[in-house]
Parts: sequence; C-alpha cells; structure tokens
Amino acid sequence: MTNPSLLILAGDGIGPEVMAEVKKVIGWYGSRRGLNFDISEDLVGGCAYDKHGTPLHDDTMAKAQAADAVLLGAVGGPKYDNLDFSVKPERGLLRLRKEMDLFSNLRPAQCFDALADFSSLKREVVAGLDIMIVRELTSGVYFGEPRGIFVEGNERVGINTQRYTESEIARVARSAFELARRRNNKVCSMEKANVMESGILWREVVQKVHDEEYPDVALSHMYADAGAMQLCRWPKQFDVIVTDNLFGDLLSDCAAMLTGSLGMLPSASLGAPMANGRPKALYEPVHGSAPDIAGQGKANPIACILSFAMALRYSFDQGAEADRLEKAVEKVLADGARTADLMGPEGGTPISTSQMGDTIVAALEASL
Ligand code: IPM
Ligand code: MG
Repeated sequence: MTNPSLLILAGDGIGPEVMAEVKKVIGWYGSRRGLNFDISEDLVGGCAYDKHGTPLHDDTMAKAQAADAVLLGAVGGPKYDNLDFSVKPERGLLRLRKEMDLFSNLRPAQCFDALADFSSLKREVVAGLDIMIVRELTSGVYFGEPRGIFVEGNERVGINTQRYTESEIARVARSAFELARRRNNKVCSMEKANVMESGILWREVVQKVHDEEYPDVALSHMYADAGAMQLCRWPKQFDVIVTDNLFGDLLSDCAAMLTGSLGMLPSASLGAPMANGRPKALYEPVHGSAPDIAGQGKANPIACILSFAMALRYSFDQGAEADRLEKAVEKVLADGARTADLMGPEGGTPISTSQMGDTIVAALEASL
C-alpha cells in the first residue's frame, strides 16, 4: 500500500507560518497514529509569481490534479497589488478551484465555547453555534463570460456575468443535502430570485433536486440579503446553507465573524470522485495572507490545522482522527491558549504561532 499523497502549497504572507504548524500535526499523526502521507511542496500565489512569472505554474497545476489532497495556506499581499489582473496571486487559487472542478466549498462556522465572548454578537446568540455554508465555487459571476472592461462610446464599462447551468446548481445542491443528512437535516438555500433570473433557476433546481432525491431533508429558501440579516440576528436557526459563489463569499465571511475570529475557520473544496474513490480536494483556511502580521509569529494556525482535520474527514476517511484533532483544539482553547487575534478586552499574554502548534500537538499526545 502506498501512502496517500498530500500537496502542500503554503503560499504567501502568514501561509508558510501557519503551514509549519500543520506539518507538526501531520508529523504527529505519522509517528503516533501510523497515518503517513507522501508530502510534496510547491508554490502558489505571489511567491510563484516571483519565481515563475505566474501565480500557478503548469507543473504545480498537474501535481495538484494528481494529489489525493491539496493543502493551501494563503495567497496575496500588497507587493502584488499593481500586477496585471491575469497574474495576480488570487488567479492561482481560482485556477486551482476551476481546473480541479472543486464545485462544493464547505465552510463550517462553529463557535467554540471558550471563544463565545469574542464574537461581536452576544454570547447567547453564538454559543454552541454549528452551521455549514456550502458555497458553489467554480461558476457564477467569478467565471461567467462575457467579462472585462470595455469601451462603449466615450466611456468604459466593466462587465461580469452571473451564469449558472441547471447541472451546476444540481450538483452543489446534492452535496448540501448529503451533508445535511449527516447533520441536523436542514438546508436553507439563498439567492436573489426577486431580482435575478439565475436566482429563479437556482431556486427551482434546488427545489426539484430536493423533491426528487432528498424529500426527507427540510428545505427552505431565503433571499441572500435577508439571509445575511438572519445570520447576524439568530444564526442558530441554520444547519446547512447552500448558495452561489459570490453570495457564499460574502455570507461565509459574515458567518466567520460570528465565531469570534477569522483565524479559526477552515474550509474544504471538493469535486467529483477520482478513480480511487476520493474526491478531488483542496483544504484551506478561510483567512487570507494577513500581510500586516506576516513573519512576526503572531498568526493563529488553528484555521489551517482545522483544515487538515477536514482533510482527514473528507479525503482520508479518518473521521475519528478528525474528531480527535478538533477536540484537541477545543481543549487548548478551553485551557486558555490564545494567539494575538484571540485577545479579548481583558488582555493577557498571547502565545506565538509556533507555541500554539506545540500546544495542540501536546493535546493530541494527551488524548492517547
Ligand atoms: C475566499 C477569498 C477568495 C474568493 C479570494 C482570495 C479570491 O475571498 O476564498 O473567500 O473571493 O473566493
Ligand atoms: Mg472570501
């Protein structure tokens, strides 16, 4: 038996720092749980641009296609702000999502009890929160044609196109219904069917997939603006939210903040099953490259570590080990371990990125 392969793309900013802590966790699973991976590393984003003049080299793209799972840190930074749009660091990430056809982006928002007071919302609104946003990731306005900046008469016009086919909607809806069955069996679909034809189609197709294949799951529909409001008002009404690429981008940042810090949220981007039965998969923290704190040992590695937990669960069929890792994170937070982003108004002394990684590995060890 060969080990499953893992391609690590640490990327820019705090990416390499948080990924260093994930590597400690991976090392622990190898030595203590016999879970070994064939790991290779490569460049994505600004660092790839610096070396190759492109944010994602074709060789890296090929490696990602062949890997059992890809683990990504973060891309981007002010140094790259003035690059041509086609070679911006973000284009590397978008190319991975598109060419691997990672249509289903899982963004869980879970509020750890120890952090309930860090949310900008009241404790009772967020304590115990556990919702899953399923964001369509390979279509919609992010990729629709025509797009560009064109000249029309004596001025320019910027154009992007929101476009969804029935099959694109149906497949992400199925993935939301499947997840809901393993959770609290509720899906809320969000679009703007009141103003967008693509929203009307979205609603129809989600309803049809539900009626024909998942009648046991409770389905509701909401306009995405009302959904944003409800997420802030009473987020616990939701279990799984399924929505398009752009609304999912916005709603997931909003949901992230409910949990207290963007430094806590992992994500999984899943595609169709490969020949070995595993889905095409990329795991990444929801936070960005945070250039303002990069290189200072201040970053919170938890989102990236929890992204690896999602890899254990969704790519490697190691649900129990994923639970172990999530419990280890919960434990260190309950014991008071805090990186700088988790400093409440009462203050205290933050620990470094690397100390947080070590503390989590110690908690894993203590779980045996
Ligand atoms: C995200 C990010 C990306 C997106 C950027 C970095 C391209 O905001 O993953 O949510 O807009 O999808
Ligand atoms: Mg975003």
